[in-house]
Amino acid sequence: MHYDTIENRHGLKHDPFKALIVPRPIGWISSVSGDGVVNLAPYSFFNAVSDRPHYVMFSSSGIKDSIRNIHETGEFTCSLSTWDTRFAMNTSSAAVPPGVDEYPLAGLTAAPSRFVKPPRVKEAPAAFECRHWKTVELPDVVPGSERGHYVVFGQVVGIYIDDRYVRDGIVDTGAMRPLARLGYMDYAVVTPETVVTINRPEVAEDGSVVNAQAEAWDGTYR
Ligand SMILES: Cc1cc2nc3c(=O)[nH]c(=O)nc-3n(C[C@H](O)[C@H](O)[C@H](O)COP(=O)(O)O)c2cc1C
Repeated sequence: MHYDTIENRHGLKHDPFKALIVPRPIGWISSVSGDGVVNLAPYSFFNAVSDRPHYVMFSSSGIKDSIRNIHETGEFTCSLSTWDTRFAMNTSSAAVPPGVDEYPLAGLTAAPSRFVKPPRVKEAPAAFECRHWKTVELPDVVPGSERGHYVVFGQVVGIYIDDRYVRDGIVDTGAMRPLARLGYMDYAVVTPETVVTINRPEVAEDGSVVNAQAEAWDGTYR
């Protein structure tokens, strides 16, 4: 199959788009409203967009509590969602009224952040503390659509890492078992068994590419 996305007649049961851009990290976004109500919700249109400076983004389909709070108070955190917290993460996505704090609702603990007001998820092995930089509204396929889609960019001003996952100066990502979103109602999980190492290729003087497939890390972070 091969189809245009404006008409979007894919002929499948559901739009396959999200089942094909995978796996997507889940930004577990915590924010605080202008009147101090704490909020937590997962967003899988989420990613890092730069590492020096450190920036992340997430995208909101419509104006939800997270984006509203971030526009009010200018800060948010993203905690790492993992296998162990998968059901709590899902519970925190419930469409509850704006005055409801999702931390107790999902049985989670709000841990204080160091550089911003919104807390992080204590049960998460890592979290990013962010200052809102800019929100970009995406042009809609159907002009005049009421919902709107908004990409929120944040500068990461602080990073929390649970020291138990730092080994020999390296973060053991697989041991954290990060959860990732696929399409439909599916998720994937990174485990130590699914982590593979591939060194970057080197170009020899004669222009040939060498060492592209070494099985163990050669120790150079390119
Ligand atoms: C794994 C997962 C990923 C989600 N990703 C997004 C997303 O990228 N954008 C979005 O608008 N909603 C997303 N949602 C739905 C929101 O979490 C949900 O609408 C939530 O109620 C929003 O909360 P808030 O109003 O407190 O911000 C996702 C839900 C789940 C379970």
